[in-house]
Amino acid sequence: MSYAKGLEGIIAGETAISQINEEAGGLRYRGYALNELCEKSTFEEVAFLLLYGHLPNRAELAAYRQTLLNLRALPERLRLLLEQLPKEAHPMDLLRTSTSALGCFEPESPQRDQYAIANQLLASFASCMLYWWIFHRDGRRIDTRGGDDTIAGHFLHVLHNKTPDETHRRALDVSLILYAEHEFNASTFTARVIASTLSDFHSAITGAIGALRGPLHGGANEAAMELIQRYRTPDEAEAGILQSLKNKEKIMGFGHRVYKHSDPRSDVIKEWARKLAAMSEEGQRQFAVAERIEAVMRREKNLFPNLDFYSAIVYNRCGIPTPLFTPLFVMSRVTGWSAHIMEQRAQNRIIRPSSEYTGPAPRAIIPLAQR
Ligand code: ACO
Repeated sequence: MSYAKGLEGIIAGETAISQINEEAGGLRYRGYALNELCEKSTFEEVAFLLLYGHLPNRAELAAYRQTLLNLRALPERLRLLLEQLPKEAHPMDLLRTSTSALGCFEPESPQRDQYAIANQLLASFASCMLYWWIFHRDGRRIDTRGGDDTIAGHFLHVLHNKTPDETHRRALDVSLILYAEHEFNASTFTARVIASTLSDFHSAITGAIGALRGPLHGGANEAAMELIQRYRTPDEAEAGILQSLKNKEKIMGFGHRVYKHSDPRSDVIKEWARKLAAMSEEGQRQFAVAERIEAVMRREKNLFPNLDFYSAIVYNRCGIPTPLFTPLFVMSRVTGWSAHIMEQRAQNRIIRPSSEYTGPAPRAIIPLAQR
């Protein structure tokens, strides 16, 4: 039996949802190049593609947007629960709990199938997060129904209580496309493992959120922002990063298990970060710091930024508070997770690998009285 720590290089299953091929230009969702999807489509089209297998036509897209819009309402019992969850909780804990609670209030059933649940979670994660965030900070109980017809526009509108700038809205929309799917990453694999036991949809997504929360995975976008904000100038950043590397610290937002030379998603989001950063002095300063960190990491460690690094600047420039960065990743990746749960169910065999035993040699039990 073959063994690789962290399952590196191990093919753990089949998928028709996305394909990573660094040599052939990066990442494709159901055969479509990701950079082309970012140029020519919107997040809702990509969500539809991942869940239903084809890009929607005009009528399908309009109907899908309306479906998602109608699903933004939260059950009253969930709103009450959100009011009870502490203000100090991390928003990721809040999304994890909300998913689990929805699985109790409105469980999967023949009347509420897996597509209905996937769409409800996709439509209502922004509602859960913003309802809780605004209730605990402004004391307002927001009406989560209706609003802008794109998830990106709706999120920014509700968060800032005003119509978003179009460049900001589109930047967030593109970031949601980039975050939507990435084959057998840790959180998706978690969802597939749970689905493979024939467990319910909400359990699989709840587990995936838990896996995404860690700083080696989705939590890196928040850590990257904290890193960028630590330095006022590029020179300060260079000195700080050199010191961190000397201390053998990991620099969040750099490196990747699968990509060896560059993360193709980073090139796209970096251009959006540059565009948004150019709109203000503070943005230009942040971008200069980030570019210097990138240069030092390339020079010293031959490491490149992953999607999380420049996404942090995009979100910060959109005025999004840092604790909401990883939840935005959830709002997008729930599409990929859902597609994978459905795919796992359709070709299921329980995922149960083996382990290499490293414990004590066989030994006899000493009776309790003599231990
Ligand atoms: N900073 C400093 N050194 C690094 C970094 C980093 N960000 N990433 C890798 N390295 C070094 C390691 O220290 C190790 O060096 P060594 O061989 O001298 O000990 C070598 O590169 C290999 O690193 P591993 O951690 O073994 O690589 P692995 O494939 O297991 O991990 C991971 C990949 C988790 C992404 C890693 O690069 C990392 O921790 N990066 C920072 C966290 C991060 O940005 N995560 C986001 C991932 S992308 C996403 O979720 C969208």
